[in-house]
Amino acid sequence: MQNNIQPENKVQQHRANPWRPIISMATAIENRYAPAYPGACEVGVSKRRRSLGRYGLTKSGASKMSLPEPVETITQPVPHASATRDLRKTGIHPDHWYPLARSRDVKRGKPFGTQFAGDPIVIVRTTSGTLFALEDRCAHRQVPLSGGTVEGELLQCGYHCWTYDASGACVSVPYLDKERTLPNGVRGYPCREASGLIFVFTGDESKASSAKFPIVPAYADRRYKTRVLDRRVACHYSFMHENLMDMNHQFLHRRLMGGIKTVFLELREGDDWVEADYTFRRTRGKQPLGEKFMIGRATKQTDDTQRDLMTIRTDYPYQTLKFWKAGSTEPELSLWNVYIPIDREQRINHTYGLMSIRAPSVPGLIHLMWPFIAWFTDGIFAEDRHIVEQEQKAFDRQGADWNQEIFPIIQKLRGVLISQGVPIEN
Ligand code: FES
Ligand SMILES: [Fe+2]
Repeated sequence: MQNNIQPENKVQQHRANPWRPIISMATAIENRYAPAYPGACEVGVSKRRRSLGRYGLTKSGASKMSLPEPVETITQPVPHASATRDLRKTGIHPDHWYPLARSRDVKRGKPFGTQFAGDPIVIVRTTSGTLFALEDRCAHRQVPLSGGTVEGELLQCGYHCWTYDASGACVSVPYLDKERTLPNGVRGYPCREASGLIFVFTGDESKASSAKFPIVPAYADRRYKTRVLDRRVACHYSFMHENLMDMNHQFLHRRLMGGIKTVFLELREGDDWVEADYTFRRTRGKQPLGEKFMIGRATKQTDDTQRDLMTIRTDYPYQTLKFWKAGSTEPELSLWNVYIPIDREQRINHTYGLMSIRAPSVPGLIHLMWPFIAWFTDGIFAEDRHIVEQEQKAFDRQGADWNQEIFPIIQKLRGVLISQGVPIEN
């Protein structure tokens, strides 16, 4: 990800003074807020609320390694300028680069039809390999252009052969007299290919060149093997951000992961991003094989100077997760995700992810481990998908967001998603 921040910088700090500031802070927090699993459900809300006053909240990462100040009003909703808007009725902001296809989905000469928030879009790879994206509708009778034909560098509608160039201009109507003016064409979208994905700038075209373009360094790093995640999930994109950011939901994965105690370490935030650090401790059972293949053997915490670190960040509209073994300067796991609303109401998203795993030093071993890693991550994702779809169903039934959010990280995250989003048009 193109970050102005920090996990890497943060690791530099860890190297210089490994873990000491975090450990002392974590130990203080851990005793206050430690949803031990199994049994997290036994932690009463009132107990948990008392504990929340100890969360570390840091603005812009400026003092991220210092001990957090107690937060007095933590059980109150975090005030936010846009707090009056229902998050689940907030549309994703279109002025960003969004992947709308995998590279392999778009073959030369075969138009690929997709959608962004209810807008049909066709992606074309021409005979020479040039990519372009247009509204997926013919200006003539509004049928999808994705049902048409690629002819050289042009796209022909399959009905009467009106023909469009890469900008969306109509450049030919076969039965139109030469002296007649050609009709208006359709909208063209800026389009780029990177990291095995095809990105489209879905908003105001004049902002495309200045908008941050997501860079995922691990994808091109030969020390990592990357799995492209590509799934449809029947929920608003905000449930996906919350699901990944709130590591207290490890209880959901208890059958696959065993007993894990989540320890929140620190929160950092800016106007359009929020980032949280966690570490974990196994409370029950052995480390599952799939997890061991992904992140290596979990660090034995015989003393408090060695802890693994997970950092999860929503950098609107993208989300990343990185996991470092104690003492390591390179993440074992680096995940980049984005959740593309498909329908106009934004109750379905297409999740694109790049999950990069650092290969062990034994040559070829990562490829042998890959099927287990895929099986394990598919299992985790299936549990997550089921639960976020349940959340969406509850919202649909209730017609409004009834959630009682008590976790400051998620309160902050909700503020970012609301403030950076747009109202959903009916
Ligand atoms: S509908 Fe496309 S050419 Fe007529
Ligand atoms: Fe999960």
